[in-house]
Amino acid sequence: MIQLYHVHKNYGNYQALVDVSLKVEKGEFLYITGPSGAGKTTLLNIVFCGVKADHGQILVGGKNILKLNDSDIPYYRREIGVVFQDFKLLPRKTVYENIAFAQRVIGVSSKEIKRKVWAALKMVGLSHKKDLLPPRLSGGEQQRVSIARALINEPSIILADEPTGNLDYDISMEIMKLFEDASAKGATVIVATHNREILKTFPHKVVKLNRGKVVEE
Ligand SMILES: Nc1ncnc2c1ncn2[C@@H]1O[C@H](COP(=O)(O)OP(=O)(O)O)[C@@H](O)[C@H]1O
Ligand SMILES: [Mg+2]
Repeated sequence: MIQLYHVHKNYGNYQALVDVSLKVEKGEFLYITGPSGAGKTTLLNIVFCGVKADHGQILVGGKNILKLNDSDIPYYRREIGVVFQDFKLLPRKTVYENIAFAQRVIGVSSKEIKRKVWAALKMVGLSHKKDLLPPRLSGGEQQRVSIARALINEPSIILADEPTGNLDYDISMEIMKLFEDASAKGATVIVATHNREILKTFPHKVVKLNRGKVVEE
């Protein structure tokens, strides 16, 4: 379960999040929506421990993540599959290696990694591009690599920032189904999107932000 209590975040004197409280149960699927600049990315980054809130509490599985030491953060993140708005792929590593990388770091055997990476590549329809470097891929393909990387470890939390932003309609639908499957299997999923089509086709709880404030739930 993820709970935010009265979270504030300023960048300088700009208020990116103002008194945001919300709750997502284990296995629940939540959309964060709202116009560009509303604070969606900031909110996901706060849950990921990439951005530190100025005030408030963030409880994830009962743990106050604002209290994590820097050395605890990598362990905390092992439970999280994240799809960043700008993908954050390693440009000099192949598609295969981008997906395998985090698995190697945590000491999964090569054989197991191979099995998982193949399954993940197949899931996002990119098996034929496994040896390419990310700069050789289209935006949508890079996005799918980042989604495969996020899902490979069957994380208990999935944070996805505009995950269908660069994808065609059909592929967007496939990707949303993958997130829904993960949620049905017990993962807590938070997807930031302003795509109305997605919100309509895959209805779930929605928290709407505007200028950093929750305006609708
Ligand atoms: N690192 C930063 N420094 C200064 N301002 C930032 C930074 N990150 C985001 N902002 C500002 O905070 C506001 C919210 O940004 P963001 O969370 O990216 O919104 P969204 O994802 O909804 O578009 C925007 O006005 C943005 O310009
Ligand atoms: Mg954003």
